[in-house]
Amino acid sequence: MDFDWASLRAAAIAVAVRAHAPYSSLRVGAAGQDAAGTVVTGCNVENASYGLTLCAECGLVSAQHAAGLGPLVAVSVVAGDGAPIVPCGRCRQLLLEAGGPGLLLDADGGPVRLGDLLPGAFTPDELAARSEVVASSPRASTPSTGGPHA
Ligand code: THU
Repeated sequence: MDFDWASLRAAAIAVAVRAHAPYSSLRVGAAGQDAAGTVVTGCNVENASYGLTLCAECGLVSAQHAAGLGPLVAVSVVAGDGAPIVPCGRCRQLLLEAGGPGLLLDADGGPVRLGDLLPGAFTPDELAARSEVVASSPRASTPSTGGPHA
């Protein structure tokens, strides 16, 4: 399948402008498309409680689901200067479930397969194959939140 990488990167650059990145000053934009060619985007959103930061890919995958897209087949992630960046480790895992190992990522040297960036990944197959039925007990049940329905 051929992709219009220039358009996809342009969409990522356009959304990077909307990033909320006052703490790192690194704006990030992400644009992805499904096999039908529909494009969705996301930008990073930081928080004064630093660990709550949402990467641009988080917004992208949320937009993918919100807009009812199929699996992502091509993604461009760029910094505010317009150059592609590689997704962080957590976002490689996130993108794996959003598109699979064959998802292509924009890079200066040409597209890179996600599966090559995240070999030996944990997948839903592991859950199906390895999870156990755990007997519930009062101590193990969901704790009360102390809320109005406690
Ligand atoms: N960031 C992303 O948005 N995606 C990545 O894959 C790497 C990092 C953001 C998070 C944070 O707002 C800033 O870049 C600096 O880490």
